[in-house]
Amino acid sequence: MAPVVIITLLICAALLISPSFSLTCTSQKLTNEKTFRDCVDLPQLDAYLHYSYNSSNSSLSIAYVATPAKPDGWVAWAINPSSSGMVGAQALLAFKSKGAPVVKTYPISAYGPIKEGKLSFDVWDLSAESLDNNMVIFASVKVDEKANKVNQVWQVGPSVIDGNPAPHEMKDANTKSTGVLTLVGSGAGQAPGSTTSTPAASTPSPSTEKSEASAIGKLGGLIIVMLGSFIGF
Ligand SMILES: *[C@@H]1O[C@H](CO)[C@@H](O)[C@H](O)[C@H]1NC(C)=O
Ligand SMILES: *[C@@H]1O[C@H](CO)[C@@H](O)[C@H](O)[C@H]1NC(C)=O
Repeated sequence: MAPVVIITLLICAALLISPSFSLTCTSQKLTNEKTFRDCVDLPQLDAYLHYSYNSSNSSLSIAYVATPAKPDGWVAWAINPSSSGMVGAQALLAFKSKGAPVVKTYPISAYGPIKEGKLSFDVWDLSAESLDNNMVIFASVKVDEKANKVNQVWQVGPSVIDGNPAPHEMKDANTKSTGVLTLVGSGAGQAPGSTTSTPAASTPSPSTEKSEASAIGKLGGLIIVMLGSFIGF
């Protein structure tokens, strides 16, 4: 009996001491005043994208939330207008400079060290914030007028040396962190039944209530399992 009780108590303690742990992007609170229409739990690297797409001027506003690979590392989110991976990605990359979050732009033309520079599309309202262990990048970008989806790439890295982001790891999570983001915005003729090639990465939550309900459902299930383990003795 003792080991089960101890494990159960450890689970309870873990649940209690991580109040800011986000089950899904829908339960995530951003400190910034901005609100976003949609969000996705990105399928790799425990990252999240909150976004609003305005089709009348084809602008996409985002908040990208991720935890740097190490506390002094970096987080990045990119659109790749020409391909699906790192090469060609137009990246927004944030890290702490003397303790304060900064965000810079990196057009990536090849593997290897990346260099700050202007992106191939307009970027405005660019800012970065720290949120618990996470960093958040806020930005608005202009996307191709006819685009109804974009290739997104995201990443986290371990360190920044003399202002230069050090390479990220090459684990599965770091190499699979790409996908398609579907743009459905205010004013967009919402094509019913439209789908995308990588649903896990791109499907906006159809319903906030539904995701929250399922998160609560999972928690409820866990509590029932824990109660069961008590009653069992
Ligand atoms: C979308 O952009 C247009 C043109 O700038 C603007 O008038 C409209 O208010 C924007 N819509 C939203 C929801 O921000
Ligand atoms: C599009 O509309 C948004 C919301 O009104 C505005 O903030 C943004 O500057 C506009 N973008 C462009 C490229 O005109």
